Amino acid sequence: MMQPRERFLNFLQHKPVDRPPIWLMRQAGRYLPEYLATRKKASNFKNLCYDSSLACEVALQPLERFDLDASIVFADILNVLEACGIDVSFEDNIGPVIKHPVRKKQDCQHLLPVTSQLGFVLDTVGLIRKHAPNRGMIGFVGSPWTLACYAVEGKISKELIHIKKLLFQDPDTLELLINHLTEATITFAKQQIAAGCDCLVVFDSWGGNLNPELFKTWSLAYQAKLVEALKPHPVFLFTRGSTPHIENILSTNSAGVCIDWTCPLTKTLTQCQNKGILLQGNFDPSMLMASNQDIKNIIYHELDAIGCHKDYLPSLGHGLMPHLDPNKVGFFVEALKDYPWRLS
Ligand code: CP3
Repeated sequence: MMQPRERFLNFLQHKPVDRPPIWLMRQAGRYLPEYLATRKKASNFKNLCYDSSLACEVALQPLERFDLDASIVFADILNVLEACGIDVSFEDNIGPVIKHPVRKKQDCQHLLPVTSQLGFVLDTVGLIRKHAPNRGMIGFVGSPWTLACYAVEGKISKELIHIKKLLFQDPDTLELLINHLTEATITFAKQQIAAGCDCLVVFDSWGGNLNPELFKTWSLAYQAKLVEALKPHPVFLFTRGSTPHIENILSTNSAGVCIDWTCPLTKTLTQCQNKGILLQGNFDPSMLMASNQDIKNIIYHELDAIGCHKDYLPSLGHGLMPHLDPNKVGFFVEALKDYPWRLS
């Protein structure tokens, strides 16, 4: 039997594996009662990120419960904004709030470069490595476009009115901001790799809100810079709503891409295989509300349809939500492991 980290590293290097490695987005989080208990100790989410020993504790919780092959560093994509001097608070039932959003050229003049501000995340990386030496470890950053969406909007916004106003009325300012965030994320991504992460995921949660041309210009171009700057270290790109953009995303030649459930799996897998790109996805996390038998049927039906491919990592197409039942998550992981994989 392969060790989880060996399985994970082999997968990243396109080497033989006994079965695909398994990890889930937001595998640490509010659906786990032990997460809520640790979060209470920290008193709020931000303190939980800043306290490396508690952050390590919650990163390890899903590994203790489920047979997962990799941990994901516990932090938030918006910690980079704070490092740049943009104050972020996380409010219950609202999400992240930025009291002084970036809306004008002058607002960009105060932005700080990333040096050692995110040391608390790097300490978490070191602790996770120490406590889970035989599992893979995944670091992450937000895409510059997605970080800019929060910096400019000041909160979750489906319409993205303020950033689109900037894009159409004052693109120079937007470019200034996104360039700054690109430098910041490249520095931080390199720091995470140096601290011990095996690969990086770029979360582009709002890229799917742009038309294909604007997506290329304002989101993908900066993700491509990250991919280049990190080489030879593996980077996975995850744009939520990537379906219309997938060809362009694959043209960056990142090590891998993650897709959500609106993206057709079989077709995307063929496109990825033609380019030697790893694929992760794309089950709808909501299907974990089905019965165990139905969950198994959904998974096996999909896996039978695509056949066994060693460059495919079966997983959920987005993060686990707070209302989901941890036992269903466990069932999902076991069902994936039990599938009759033939990957040679
Ligand atoms: O297990 C993991 O996935 C690691 C940790 C992680 C968190 N956020 C912790 C978190 C990761 C990888 C993220 C990424 C993240 N953060 C994204 C990209 C992925 C996505 O969901 O689209 C985005 C857009 C954010 C920004 C953010 N952080 C929002 C919008 C929110 C509030 C909404 C929500 O889901 O609660 C957060 C808070 C947050 N980040 C929580 C967690 C566990 C919930 C905090 C809590 O305990 O109250």
